[in-house]
Amino acid sequence: MTQASVDERIKLISAGNATGSTCDPGLAKGPWEFDSGTPGYGPGASLGDVIPVGSPRQGSLPDEYKTASVDELHARIRAAKQTLGERVVILGHFYQRDEIVQHADYLGDSFQLANAAKAHPEAEAIVFCGVHFMAETADILSGAHQSVILPNLAAGCSMADMADADSVEACWEQLMALYGEDAVDGKQPVIPVTYMNSSAALKAFCGRNGGIVCTSSNAAIVLQWAFERGQRVLFFPDQHLGRNTAKAMGISVDQMPLWQGRKALGGNTEQQLHDAKVILWNGFCSVHKRFTVDQIEKARVDYPGVRVIVHPECPMPVVDAADENGSTDYIRRAIENAHEPSVFAIGTEINMVQRLAAQHPEHTIFCLDPVICPCSTMYRIHPGYLAWVLERLVAGEVVNQIVVDDATASDAKVALERMLAAKPL
Ligand code: 13P
Ligand code: SF4
Repeated sequence: MTQASVDERIKLISAGNATGSTCDPGLAKGPWEFDSGTPGYGPGASLGDVIPVGSPRQGSLPDEYKTASVDELHARIRAAKQTLGERVVILGHFYQRDEIVQHADYLGDSFQLANAAKAHPEAEAIVFCGVHFMAETADILSGAHQSVILPNLAAGCSMADMADADSVEACWEQLMALYGEDAVDGKQPVIPVTYMNSSAALKAFCGRNGGIVCTSSNAAIVLQWAFERGQRVLFFPDQHLGRNTAKAMGISVDQMPLWQGRKALGGNTEQQLHDAKVILWNGFCSVHKRFTVDQIEKARVDYPGVRVIVHPECPMPVVDAADENGSTDYIRRAIENAHEPSVFAIGTEINMVQRLAAQHPEHTIFCLDPVICPCSTMYRIHPGYLAWVLERLVAGEVVNQIVVDDATASDAKVALERMLAAKPL
């Protein structure tokens, strides 16, 4: 029997036809019900997630795409793709719902999808089924003749929003005033490193200031790159990825002060900043914040011998309590490479975990958090939007295009190309 997708399960639970719970029953509604007017990232987002003023908003989706059955939408998507042929390439992140993933030409983590966007100059349109910062990156790395389309403009990322360009510039000014701008022993006082999960403006900031981009699959390689060129690192927006990666490299947590944007010197003393090796921005992912040490302890009691793997966006105590941590593709490969039937407890987004469980019936695979709570913004991409953007392309119209201005794109590309060229040690 095939396993129900996350979307199907949420609908069954909400209708009272299945056991289990979802973090927000509003997830069972169509995402278009939250596209306009609602301040927030929609059902399932944490209360602290507020869309910044100026973020793109999705306009209305034509009714025919809201009322069509999922089967009809699948048929329309397939037909549009067939008509477009090589003119379109569809990229899908691992956290997308199964109803989208089945139409993706490439499925991957943010690093793999950045490479995929670069590798398809034949496609005049790249439809990015992921979130806004990923589509921006695809626009920067793809050719000028290509359009990048985000099927639902409300698919942002609350973590990326936690570091805005003005706050990072203000932090940088304070650090330059404290450290001075001159290199010591051939090394810059501080190298800015931005997680891929950030705006194009911040990637451009890194490009202009000798910095680099990282993803969860290459954060250690990138930090090594940065320490070859600088005495310390300013890491944003995800404090957890920064802390977990630096700790694994042997850096003491005492040398990783947290920068709290509104306070002078980020709430630190001058001495703490002089002693710092990694200055961590105060951002986090509300999906990975849900995982706890208690969940891991329970999994170990319920399933002695369980292999616990979590994403490095989880808080440090969770990563420390797990057996392994790694990017989404690391998790996928760990399961694929396990030859003996095993039990895996996974700490990452539910769509990916359930898909792995369905693909690997030889293993027992479950999510550490028993509550079904997808990434609320990844979940805003529904087959209705995919059918709409593809059918508009067939009609010769590009809708929901993501465009990064030339000056920003050129600086951001410098930081992205440094990342793509950074080699493992
Ligand atoms: P990766 O795709 O780099 O594993 O990141 C996970 C994530 O949170 C994407 O938003
Ligand atoms: Fe952003 Fe977290 Fe969702 Fe990734 S999983 S898009 S980091 S909110």
